[in-house]
Amino acid sequence: MQDIIPAISAVAGYVPDYIMTNHELEKMVDTNDEWIRTRTGIKERRVLKGEGKGTSVMATEVLKQLLEKRNIEAKDIDAVIIATVTPDYLFPTTANIVANNVGAVNAFSYDLTAACSGFLFALETGANFIKSGKYKYIAVIGADKMSSIVNYKDRNTCILFGDGAGGVLLEASENEYGIKDSILRSDGSGGDYLYMKGGGSVNPPSHETVDNDMHYLFQDGKTVFKFAVTKMADVSVEIMNRNNLTGDDIAYLVPHQANKRIIDATANRMGIGDEKVTMNIDKYGNTTAATIPLCLWEWENKFKKGDNIILAAFGGGFTWGAVYLQWAY
Ligand code: UT7
Repeated sequence: MQDIIPAISAVAGYVPDYIMTNHELEKMVDTNDEWIRTRTGIKERRVLKGEGKGTSVMATEVLKQLLEKRNIEAKDIDAVIIATVTPDYLFPTTANIVANNVGAVNAFSYDLTAACSGFLFALETGANFIKSGKYKYIAVIGADKMSSIVNYKDRNTCILFGDGAGGVLLEASENEYGIKDSILRSDGSGGDYLYMKGGGSVNPPSHETVDNDMHYLFQDGKTVFKFAVTKMADVSVEIMNRNNLTGDDIAYLVPHQANKRIIDATANRMGIGDEKVTMNIDKYGNTTAATIPLCLWEWENKFKKGDNIILAAFGGGFTWGAVYLQWAY
């Protein structure tokens, strides 16, 4: 029997309507539009407004779109995997909520956490479910409501992040194209440079954790930048080399959108020009697990069947990785 090749068969995305511009942030912290644009590439980001609205609101829209685009019914979905660091609750999982919202009654569903690399980790997981031959349709979604853990008094971090969700449907390829290779890595010694101190079992929520701002994301930007620039490029080049690909063979790099300077450095190391790099950081900022699927969603019409595409990410944990795929439709 021939090996099953897992492939992306549909892409979807959702961003909330509210646009938070750099100028709005100038009124909240000591920053300015020029600094944010030149240091990060971000002009604006989206924020999910409304009492009681969590990450599942955005992820549900994505799953509905995936079903519509592929023209399948919710009951046909075998699994829903959601990568997120901002789940609606610690449990039940956001994926449980989303699957229930669309009526995916036959799906098992769970969340997966690998911060900004979450979508790639979830994609590898879903792809292997398809490869096993046991499942037909797997939905892999990256979704984060970063505004729920960002401190809008901290100029080091509040300018960076936004809310959004994106996702893909995976199934067995009908041709020779699909997900071909992946390299995923983690290094827990980097944990202290990008994390949220409170809310877990070490520092459960209390008056003290709230008073000490422990429920907000903390980032040592400089250190994370240094690792991100090196590691994201390292794995991207490694996956190219082991698949005998040069810059000329690559149709698109789809990188995590944390900082335009990190993306430029990665593309440079890979030997590919700007025109082959998907970039929407200017509009959405860093949406953590959603950046890569949001790029896939916005570039879907440009991709051609058989295009060689590299996905690459670096994030909290530390976690990082690259995926090589050939666009299947
Ligand atoms: O997605 C997960 C992975 N995350 C990342 O990959 C993010 C990696 N890090 C970064 O992207 C960058 O480090 C930042 C964008 C977060 C910061 O850029 P930077 O070039 O590393 O700036 P910096 O932290 O070295 O700060 C330079 C200066 C400092 O002032 P002094 O000490 O030189 O006087 C900061 O206080 O810029 C100041 N600064 C700001 N100024 C205006 C920091 N934030 C701001 C701000 N507006 N928002």
